[in-house]
Amino acid sequence: MSDEQQAAINRRSFIKLATTVPVIGALAAIASPLLRFLKPNVKKFEIYAPTAQDVARGEKIPVATISEVAKPWDFKYFVFTQKYPQYTPEGFIAAAVPGVVIRLPVKLKLYDPATGLGPLSWARSIRKQPKVAESDIIVFSRICPHLGCIFNYVANYKEVTAGYGGFVPPPTRQHALMACPCHLSIYDPADQDRPGRVLSGPAPRPPRTFLFEIQGEDIFVTDVEPGGIAQKKGSGHRA
Ligand code: FES
Repeated sequence: MSDEQQAAINRRSFIKLATTVPVIGALAAIASPLLRFLKPNVKKFEIYAPTAQDVARGEKIPVATISEVAKPWDFKYFVFTQKYPQYTPEGFIAAAVPGVVIRLPVKLKLYDPATGLGPLSWARSIRKQPKVAESDIIVFSRICPHLGCIFNYVANYKEVTAGYGGFVPPPTRQHALMACPCHLSIYDPADQDRPGRVLSGPAPRPPRTFLFEIQGEDIFVTDVEPGGIAQKKGSGHRA
């Protein structure tokens, strides 16, 4: 093969290469977003998951003294300020969460440190450990988990029957109850297995609870169970 023939072949190869590379590049540029769309490399919602800094928080506040809830079924209402992270210049938005401290006639197991189970086990979702594992004091959010009305603590169950749709509790539950005026959900704050158990009405779950501490004569709340209204357990936790 002469030098001229060899040079012609080299020119053809070069031209072929020079036209093929951009075509392959253009096809890759088109296919890449398509493949990313078909097989995203992050799981759904994970990119929106709250970071450790995003956990909703409030200020630890005293909500009752021991002597204010000294006897079984004594109670005290309070309002807790919950702060939710917002990507605004203010950083946080505050929400008022009304709550109720109740002295029960019996002690309930609220948290088992060995298994991590119990009514206050939700604390792990905010990376905390309940300070009180067993107590006859319990603290509920008064935001009804049905549609968000504020429910009442009703010391006399007969007032529940008279004023909240005629519900008559069974003999073992004829004591103080919690009742929502909006759609008549009735809760038992002293249920041994599930404090706040729904006895009647449309509520999908018991009211949310607070983490609390007892220091000397004072009862403090530190955190409220995360979650919005009408969510069943395990269905997410953002308010
Ligand atoms: S909002 Fe309480 S029962 Fe509906």
